[in-house]
Amino acid sequence: MASMNKQMYLTTPIYYVNAVPHIGSAYCTLATDTLARFWRAKLGPEKVHFLTGTDENSQKTVEAAQKEGQAVGPYLDAMAARWRETFDTIGVAYDDFIRTTEKRHHHTVGVVLQKMYDRGDIYKGKYVGKYCVGCETFLKDSELDENGHCPAHKKAPKEIEEENYFFKLSAYQDKLLKFYEDNPAWVQPESRRNELLNFMKSGLEDLSISRENCEIGIPLPWDPSHKVYVWTEALINYVSAVYDTEKAHFWESVYHIVGKDITRFHCVIWPAMLMSADITLPKGVFAHGFFTVNGHKMSKSLGNVVDPLELAGKFGNDALRVGLLSSFEFGGDGDFSRDNFDQFCNAKLASGVGNLFNRVIVLVNKFLEGQKPEVFKMKKDYYAQFSHHMEHFQIKAAIDTMFEVVDKANERLNQTEVWKLAKTDLKAAEPIFAELLSYLEVIAKMAHVVLPESVEGMTRMLGDNTKVGEGEILFERV
Ligand code: MSP
Repeated sequence: MASMNKQMYLTTPIYYVNAVPHIGSAYCTLATDTLARFWRAKLGPEKVHFLTGTDENSQKTVEAAQKEGQAVGPYLDAMAARWRETFDTIGVAYDDFIRTTEKRHHHTVGVVLQKMYDRGDIYKGKYVGKYCVGCETFLKDSELDENGHCPAHKKAPKEIEEENYFFKLSAYQDKLLKFYEDNPAWVQPESRRNELLNFMKSGLEDLSISRENCEIGIPLPWDPSHKVYVWTEALINYVSAVYDTEKAHFWESVYHIVGKDITRFHCVIWPAMLMSADITLPKGVFAHGFFTVNGHKMSKSLGNVVDPLELAGKFGNDALRVGLLSSFEFGGDGDFSRDNFDQFCNAKLASGVGNLFNRVIVLVNKFLEGQKPEVFKMKKDYYAQFSHHMEHFQIKAAIDTMFEVVDKANERLNQTEVWKLAKTDLKAAEPIFAELLSYLEVIAKMAHVVLPESVEGMTRMLGDNTKVGEGEILFERV
C-alpha cells in the first residue's frame, strides 16, 4: 500500500535529446513532480527523491548532431542543458538530473552487466534482424506496416547481421509471471498489467543487449569491442543515480512513472535484469497514457507539436500543470486542445479559485477589519480525499477534489450572500466568513502540491493566525 510508504523515490523516463521537450515529455515530468510534491508534504522533503534526466547514448543523437553540423559532445551538452532549463522554467523541482553520458552511470552500467554476465545470463550469438533507429529497437516482421516500414517512424528499418551478446530473458519468464502473481498491483493501471501478462505468456525471447560498430555508447566490461545496447543501459540510470551514494537507501522505495509505450522495457526486461543482477525490484511502475492534440497525434510533419515553454510563458506554470494534469485521467489517454485549455484557465483558475480567494479576503477586510473569526470545523475531510487519490496515482481525481472545494466555497458565498448579510447582521455573518476561510485553508494546502507558484499569493492572503492579508489577483483571465 502506497500509504504505508516511509520514503519515496520517484523517477520519470529519461528523455532522448535529439529533439527538444514537447508537451508529452512535460506531461510525464509534471505528473511525477506533482507526486513528488505530494510525498514531500506528507513525509518531509528529506524523505523524497525525485529523478529525471536525459538518455544520450543513442544513434539518433549522433545523426541529429551530424545534421546540425556539430560534434557529438558539444551537441549533447547543449541539448541536455536545454532539457534541464525547460524543466527548471516550468517549475519542475527534481532532486537529481542524470545524463547517461556521466561517469557515475558508466560505472554502474559496468557493475550491473558484469553481475549478469558472472551469473551466466549473458551469452554471445548472432543477430539477424531489422533495427529501427527511431525506436532504438529491433522490430519483428509482424510489427511492420504494409510497406515494410516502422509504423511509428515511417521508415524502413536497417537490416542488421552481427555478433551480439544476448541476455537470457527467456529463462526469467516463469519467475516474472510468479512475481506478477505475488504482486498484483506492481504494474498500474490494471489494463497495462493484463497486456504485459499476455505478452509474457506468449513466450519471451532472449534479448540482444550489445551492438558492434556503434559510434556512441558504453563498452561492455568484459568485451569493450561491443557497446551496451542503449535501452539496456538507459534502464540502469535509475540505479546509477543512487548506487554507492548516501541516497542508496532510496532504492527500496522506487516507483517508476513511464508512458504506456515503454512498459515492456520497464515491466518485463527491467525486472528480469534486476533479478539477474540480484538487485531488489522496484516497488511499482505506473504507466500513463498518451494525448493527442485536437484529436491528432502530435507530429512535426503535422506542425501541431505543442511547446510547453510557450504555454507556460503565456498562462503561467500552474496553469500548464493543472491544465494538463486535469484534462484526463492519469493512466488513460486523452486529448489536448487550446480551446479547452483557455476555457479551463478562465473558468477554473481565474473565475474559480482566483476570484474566490480575492473576494473572500476583500470581504473579511471590509467587514471584520481583516480579523479572522473563530475557526470553523469542516464536516468533510477534503485533504484526506485528496491524499487518498495522490497515494493511488489518481492525479486528476486529486485536482478535481481541490476544485470541488472551490465550487463548494463559491456556492456558499453566493447562497448566503454574506456581503449583504454582513451589513445588517455582522454576528450572523461571522461564522460564514469562518467557514469560507476554512475552505481557503484547505485549498491552499492542496495548492502546495498542485499550484506551487500561486500558493505564495494564497499564503499572503491567508495571513497569520489572527489577521488576513490583502486581496490579490492570482490568475489573469486569458
Ligand atoms: N529514452 C526513452 C526512455 C528511457 S527510460 C529508461 C524514451 N524517451 S522519449 O523521449 O522518447 O520518451 C519519454 C517519455 O515521454 C515516454 O514515456 C513517452 O511516454 C513520453 N511521451 C512522449 N510523447 C507523449 C505524448 N504525446 N503523450 C504522453 N506522453 C508522451 O522513450
